[in-house]
Amino acid sequence: VKQFLKKGLVQVDGITEKQAKRKVLGNEQITLNGKPVYYEEHCYLMLHKPAGVVTATEDKKEKTVMDLITLQQKKDLFPVGRLDKDTEGLLLVTNDGELAHRLLSPKKHVDKCYFTRVTGQIHEEDIHRFKEGLDIGDEKKTLPADLEILSSGEISEAKVTICEGRYHQVKRMFESVGKKVLYLKRLSMGTLILDDLLPPGAYRTLTAGEIRSLQTISKKETGDKE
Ligand code: URA
Repeated sequence: VKQFLKKGLVQVDGITEKQAKRKVLGNEQITLNGKPVYYEEHCYLMLHKPAGVVTATEDKKEKTVMDLITLQQKKDLFPVGRLDKDTEGLLLVTNDGELAHRLLSPKKHVDKCYFTRVTGQIHEEDIHRFKEGLDIGDEKKTLPADLEILSSGEISEAKVTICEGRYHQVKRMFESVGKKVLYLKRLSMGTLILDDLLPPGAYRTLTAGEIRSLQTISKKETGDKE
């Protein structure tokens, strides 16, 4: 920034400013090279997590999702929730701790939709069992989940929507009905849908509309106490 100031590229309300110590007010218009510059407290990224990287901010041995983010200002960013190392798909990365907290709160029941490929046939009966809740070895049964069969055979494909975020939840749910998950990809989280144009490993900033919708659903009353 000091370099830009020195070169006379920065203007405040149309007047060139060279002093870094200059304090600006919220209603003053700053431009760099003639283009308006805005202060944004929070950063929101949609990452298409590839398989083979761990969901963590740092790891001594493994490559992490944060290693895929090449932004200079990334030190306060973190992934919202966790996908297994072999799971692909939508991961929100932000520095908005309050939004993250609300989206992950078990009381908020934010829907997460996954595409999955599993061993063996999936039947109507499985849809009912997912809906009723499954015993996956935890204290409580899983909350009702939606199972949509896409194809059924030796290997089957389905979409599953859960509103919790338990450890290995989707894999354990399929295990409890006798199937093994071979492939898992998160397609959406609440109102946020993985962008088809993002290849695995790529990311983009969220649009203003995407941020607004996430803020709205994360604030909605659920009737559950926090
Ligand atoms: N359920 C799983 O089993 N793994 C994930 O990564 C996400 C949901």
